[in-house]
Amino acid sequence: MAIRTIVKDTEDILHKKCRTVEKFDEKLWSLLDDMAETMYKANGVGLAAPQVGLLKRICVIDVGNGLVEFINPEITLTSSAIIEDTEGCLSSPGEYAIVKRPKKVKVKAQNRKGEEFSIVAEDLFARAICHETDHLNGVIFKDICEYMLDPADLK
Ligand code: NI
Repeated sequence: MAIRTIVKDTEDILHKKCRTVEKFDEKLWSLLDDMAETMYKANGVGLAAPQVGLLKRICVIDVGNGLVEFINPEITLTSSAIIEDTEGCLSSPGEYAIVKRPKKVKVKAQNRKGEEFSIVAEDLFARAICHETDHLNGVIFKDICEYMLDPADLK
């Protein structure tokens, strides 16, 4: 495993749409391992492939209940209940914003073997899924936030 460099949000790659993954091979597995290691090292709860410089529809999330790898994730249902909360991103160090997200989402994806699964997530897990799937569509939290927080207020 290896730590990969995290791309900053000023880079073009974070504003592009990612491509569907079709090969579930050892190269993918080592990328997934590296992404998890990179996320944990940076104390993040989620990381998407474009953040390590690859336009692939892959993200990893761990909000404290164990690692989940999502390949070709698709949000299929969102709750009408919306939660407004503070959000940050490993590609935007020191920047935080208030972002509205559905309280609950249903997502379908493939695992590292290419098998389909679907899960229902709530609260922080749902927020992380929305944030990471946005990355796969070239959208960052700053594009869709209600407002940015003043760094002086965070001290
Ligand atoms: Ni992010």
